[in-house]
Formats: sequence, structure tokens, C-alpha cells
Amino acid sequence: MIKTWMIASGKGGVGKSTLAAALAVALVREGKKTVLMDMDIGLRSLDIHLGMENSVVYDVLDYARGDCRLSEAVLTHLSMPQLGLLPAAQLGTAGEIDGEIMDKIFRKLLKHYEYVLADAPAGLTRGIERILGSAENTLLIVTPDDVSVRDAERVIELCREKDKPAPLLIVNRVIPALVQSGDMHSPQTIADMLDVPLLGYVPDDTEVIRALHGHRTVMDTDCPARRAVERIAKRLTGCAVPLMAIAPPQRKRSGWFSRRRGGELPK
Ligand SMILES: Nc1ncnc2c1ncn2[C@@H]1O[C@H](COP(=O)(O)OP(=O)(O)O)[C@@H](O)[C@H]1O
Ligand SMILES: [Mg+2]
Repeated sequence: MIKTWMIASGKGGVGKSTLAAALAVALVREGKKTVLMDMDIGLRSLDIHLGMENSVVYDVLDYARGDCRLSEAVLTHLSMPQLGLLPAAQLGTAGEIDGEIMDKIFRKLLKHYEYVLADAPAGLTRGIERILGSAENTLLIVTPDDVSVRDAERVIELCREKDKPAPLLIVNRVIPALVQSGDMHSPQTIADMLDVPLLGYVPDDTEVIRALHGHRTVMDTDCPARRAVERIAKRLTGCAVPLMAIAPPQRKRSGWFSRRRGGELPK
């Protein structure tokens, strides 16, 4: 079972940090002690997603520079002692952490945690290369639009160049009604376009936005996004949870027959 994951995307703003925080909570609820590494250095966010922003003292760069011990930088969630957070620095980049130290951070965290999720910066930076070098595999987050999909191809290429396994895909912000009307790619279509395995999809859900506003994850609310993240976490731990199918695009009925049966006229 793969225990160290980089959470990456080509394009920014697709939901990496949101899903990293939610997945970590879901893994903890599956009984798996999990630590999140906020590696989007300069754009730290996971502390806010988890409501831990007032607890940050040291960060990953402080550790990398030898200014603190790793145990001093890693925070434990107050109500979920099985959940740890290694916060990002407010300044700098993940590229400042050399490969050896990055490996050491992963190795040390694995002594205390079963799963390590590293939230990477968007795009192809030296930072993502360093994280890729140390994590076993990548969770690639895309939204169902061609820009995000095309940018994701670059991450897949990078994995290939670095002899890393093909990432597992999570399609975020899916709107099933638009998939059914043929106005949005289905998660499986995107996986086929990118030629990577589909781990799952998460619907677009206003509860996600509400949760972030309250500095908590969507895992505290009963909503479709939460249930989707729970299924993804189960798959990560090796449970065979089937993908929730979205019915294929409906062919719009037209003509005399459909009118007689009360079908919609073509728009
Ligand atoms: N499934 C979702 N439904 C609705 N909004 C979402 C969803 N996933 C993410 N968002 C919103 O998208 C925005 C960007 O998410 P974020 O996690 O910061 O992206 P990234 O880390 O990739 O830059 C946030 O405002 C977040 O609340
Ligand atoms: Mg982010």
C-alpha cells in the first residue's frame, strides 16, 4: 500500500489544499494516523483549512534550515490527535529544501504516521520536483475543463521523466447535471484523455466553500463532497469502493414521437 503521496495539479485553484485537508481527516476517521505537509511554501493554507492557524510556531523551512526539530514544527490537531500538520513557511519556496532533507522529512514523518500527504505548489517548479523525488506516488487533481486537463498533462510528463508511477486522478468540482447534458467532461473521459487511473471525483458543492469560511473541512458536514472524499480515502487504503457512475449524456428527444409522449422539444 502506498503511504506517501504528493498532491499536485498543473493549474492552481483546482482544490488541492481543500482535498488534501479533507482526505487527511477522512483517513484519520478510517483509523489511519495521517500527517499533512503544507509544501505550498509562500502560500500556506492548510492551517486555515484545519482551523489550526493560531497554533503555528515553526514551519517546514525552519526545520530544513536547522532552526528547530521536526517534532517542534509538526502540530497535532486538537480534536483529532491522529492528525498532524507540518505547516508551510510564509516566505520562500519548496525548491529551497534539497532532496536529502526532503527524503529525511518523509522518512521521519513515516516513523510516527501511517500516511503522509504533501500538498504541492501548482505548476512545474523545482519544489514539485523535490517533493516528487521523495513521495512514492502522486494524486493529481484536475477540474473538468480543458485548461486544467492540459496543464495536468505536464505533471504526468514530469512523473514519467522522473521514472515515477503514473499519478492517480481525482476530478474535483464535477457538476453531474452538466456531465449528463453533455456540457462537462465526465471524470472517466478525463482519465481516458490523460491515460491515468481514476481514483474518484468530488462534486462541486457549496458546503466546501461554507466549510472553508468556517476554517474547517467539509468532513464536518453531511453533504455529497464529504461522501465522495470518504469513498476516495477508502480506495486509498485499499478498499474496493465502486465509483459512483454518472449517467451518460441524455440524447435530447425530438420529433413527433417524443412530443406525443410529453418529451421536451429540442432547444
Ligand atoms: N468540490 C468543491 N466544491 C466547491 N468549491 C470547491 C471545491 N473544491 C475546492 N473548492 C474551492 O475552490 C477554491 C480553490 O481551492 P484550493 O483548495 O485553494 O485550490 P488549490 O490548492 O489547488 O490552489 C477554494 O475557494 C475552495 O473552497
Ligand atoms: Mg493550495
